[in-house]
Amino acid sequence: MGEPLVVVSNRGPVGFRRAEDGTLSSVRGAGGLVTALRPLVDRGDVTWVASAMGDVEQELAGEGPREEISAAGTPFRLRLVSHDPETYRLFYGVVANPALWFVQHGLWELKRDPAADLTVPWRDGYAAANRALADAAIAELDLRPGAALYVHDYHLYLVPSHVRSARPEARIAFFVHIPWVGPDDWAVLPSAIGRAVHEGLLACDSVGFHTERWRSAFVAACDALLGRGEDAERVSHANPIAVDTNEFDELAASEAVRARRQELASERPEILVLRVDRTDPSKNAVRGFEAFGRLLERHPELQGRVVLLALLDPSRQEIPEYVDYRTATVAAAASVNRTFGRPGWEPVRLELRDDFPASIAAYTEYDVLLINPVMDGLNLVAKEAPLVNERDGVLVLSRRAGAFAELGEWALGVDPLDVDEQADALARAIALPAEERRVRLAAIQARVRAHDLAAWADRELAELDARTR
Ligand code: G6P
Repeated sequence: MGEPLVVVSNRGPVGFRRAEDGTLSSVRGAGGLVTALRPLVDRGDVTWVASAMGDVEQELAGEGPREEISAAGTPFRLRLVSHDPETYRLFYGVVANPALWFVQHGLWELKRDPAADLTVPWRDGYAAANRALADAAIAELDLRPGAALYVHDYHLYLVPSHVRSARPEARIAFFVHIPWVGPDDWAVLPSAIGRAVHEGLLACDSVGFHTERWRSAFVAACDALLGRGEDAERVSHANPIAVDTNEFDELAASEAVRARRQELASERPEILVLRVDRTDPSKNAVRGFEAFGRLLERHPELQGRVVLLALLDPSRQEIPEYVDYRTATVAAAASVNRTFGRPGWEPVRLELRDDFPASIAAYTEYDVLLINPVMDGLNLVAKEAPLVNERDGVLVLSRRAGAFAELGEWALGVDPLDVDEQADALARAIALPAEERRVRLAAIQARVRAHDLAAWADRELAELDARTR
């Protein structure tokens, strides 16, 4: 049994549904953070504090903490925190996404944003929701003397400062799953917000980032906004999150994935280009489709032989910017199909749904994997998909994804804003000699296996221990 740990994240490791007959069932929580962190519960003695999302979870939150069992059979405690709907809307729908997410992914539009004054949403939404989650975390810490607190991501920058002032001796670690940006980028937000964000993280004993690039931006921003660059240097480290390789091997061999593979194999084109993302503007699907169109225009010999399969999970559809981007994504795919498609060949196959087994089946089958985010903290698909790929698939990867620092050497790097370069990289990937494809994929797989999720978690806990001993 590991040391007691209280984990806090906005989305919990499981979601809940109630069937018409009233039966309650739990479903795997969606999104990169939860996929990566779920196995933490198998280290034992874990309490997870998360926001109640939707009616079923609101109702469950009222019943108090729950005993849950992980997929691997380990019990853990789940404490759902309920927020007033308007508080949650301001917290999630106005401040966390899109304001913080957009600022930290270079998506802020200076000529238009901020579209509204953020002061009230910050106070009545973000700060209020953070306080509610921090209060729940404090209550859980009080039940487990000596437990460490492990807080995650951009929804919760104010949790550490609340906990620190209520329990000065608490051991607090934080992990930032998204990029960090420099002081000029933070300056687009009211300065009180920028300062509170950085002060929040400096209330931690340990703060982890996926890459050195994001970590040094954090140090620079702490220095410029608070004059506390040295404190930031002392608490921070880079430790890219990783894949639970055992879980992925098992999933790839599972019945559900095998069935999806058969479906895919029966209709696969000669060359399969794949992308798997949430429909998030940061993922840059529109430019990806434009690049694919340009590839077909420049290489008519590929027409009829290649298909871009885009498996996109609809994300954050309560936020207008996300709805607009999803519409633009559908239009960009349709435009390529209108220009180049012909009977019997649809160049872009776009599927908008959350279907994890289908994604893994496609991971095993791709020839080229296109990952072109404008900015991305890490991008777990860049690790998961090569791990189980069986066709010596080539990775085309944005230089602005955190994963590029680890895998760039074996990928074809692209600038996410440069559509021409992406079209050229796709052509190069398709033409790469078989031996080179094999060597590149094998190197990525070796790297992903060598630094797996267990190694990542060990390092995180060791960083906290080293700073609180
Ligand atoms: C990214 C973020 C996570 C978040 C996930 C899904 O991976 O880094 O923190 O959980 O997206 O986002 P959602 O808004 O659906 O919880």
